[in-house]
Amino acid sequence: MQSLLILGRQAELGLAELESLYGSGVVRAAGEQAAVVDVDPCLLAFDRLGGSVKFCKLLTTLDTNSWKDVERFLIQVAPGHSQTMPEGKMTLGLSVYGFTETIQRIEATGLTVKKAIKKTGRNVRLIPNKAHELNAAQVIHNKLTTPTGWELVFVRDGDQVLVGQTVKVQDIDAYTRRDRERPSRDTKVGMLPPKLAQIIVNLAVGQLPSEKLQNICDIPAGKPIPFNLLNKTILDPFCGTGVLLQEASLMGYHVVGTDLEPRMVKYSEKNLEWLHELYDLPDLEAVLQVGDATNFTWSVQADFVAAETYLGRPFTTMPSNEILNQTISECNLIIKKSLRNLHEQLAPGARLCLAVPAWQTRQGEFKRLPLTDQLNDLGYAEVVLASNTGRPLIYSRPDQFVARDLLILTAK
Ligand SMILES: C[S@@+](CC[C@H](N)C(=O)[O-])C[C@H]1O[C@@H](n2cnc3c(N)ncnc32)[C@H](O)[C@@H]1O
Repeated sequence: MQSLLILGRQAELGLAELESLYGSGVVRAAGEQAAVVDVDPCLLAFDRLGGSVKFCKLLTTLDTNSWKDVERFLIQVAPGHSQTMPEGKMTLGLSVYGFTETIQRIEATGLTVKKAIKKTGRNVRLIPNKAHELNAAQVIHNKLTTPTGWELVFVRDGDQVLVGQTVKVQDIDAYTRRDRERPSRDTKVGMLPPKLAQIIVNLAVGQLPSEKLQNICDIPAGKPIPFNLLNKTILDPFCGTGVLLQEASLMGYHVVGTDLEPRMVKYSEKNLEWLHELYDLPDLEAVLQVGDATNFTWSVQADFVAAETYLGRPFTTMPSNEILNQTISECNLIIKKSLRNLHEQLAPGARLCLAVPAWQTRQGEFKRLPLTDQLNDLGYAEVVLASNTGRPLIYSRPDQFVARDLLILTAK
């Protein structure tokens, strides 16, 4: 059975994450904002996907891209479907991706479908569309993924329309709690969003072995993956306050974190202790040490490296060329030396994902670190994902001058 995943704000990151975990053979882009994944849905550990916001069952594909035809289809099938749902008032929501129809037009369709369902004697509530799509909060608040809820998702994909039913949405409250409620935070080292930390981990670990994936099916939603299932270790050599270590722990990895600043190592420790209590994880066994990534010798052999490296000074606006060039040289040197040091200690084939800084010069244009052209000489091969041939994977926000350039590498 195929699944339809609605991707986050930067769809290319979500797509790369899916391709990294499940392989390019079973993942394909659908329109601008979605992906179709052809694996057993129970293997899609949705909680660990930072780049997908909705997980839908793919119901059908319509050979049209006209909204009128979609509406006709809905009026035909919705009344029948409503009869198969459990008793009680049903709630209907529509989310539409890639259509140019106005929101009023989508709402009018919703009202027509509601009327058609009501004619069968069924009580139905329609969630009004404030935008083309309902967001995760609306889906959760209106209980659209419960047995009496029905969120239908329409994705325009070239000449076709994919129709899905939402089964799960991202647990926004859990992400907010992990982001805002952890005891030690420091706005100066930047705030790595937990969803981005998950993406970095997933890009670092690559395809999951299928026999391990089977066991993930048995883990209830929202529960962490036990450490003994994957039995792999992730190293973050720039761990800061530990956001990445937190997410990696919940995703079932043993973690090793080091940072130049003793204060940061303490923060990571406190935050991990808090997380272990919150999620009832076994006793904290993370290895956390003060260490300079450019010359440290780690006592544990890591299977993967995942990190948001040093990002330089946190600029809010574009600095002078001189200051920017200084910052670029400083970051380039630290990260290059760290890559050399890591290379000496990683097993050949070990995989890494490093979020290194890139600077937004104009909307959509980025100045990248010089080392991004020297990875081969540093002893690394870049992992090229089919969904993203040759283009850098850059996480950016319109209001932030410093972006994160996600390098996916294997040690040669
Ligand atoms: C952008 S922050 C990482 C933030 C982290 N992702 C978090 O969750 O808070 C970069 C970190 O790199 C550390 N750092 C800078 N130079 C370093 C070096 N040479 N070796 C190790 N850590 C370093 C800084 O102290 C800082 O905590």
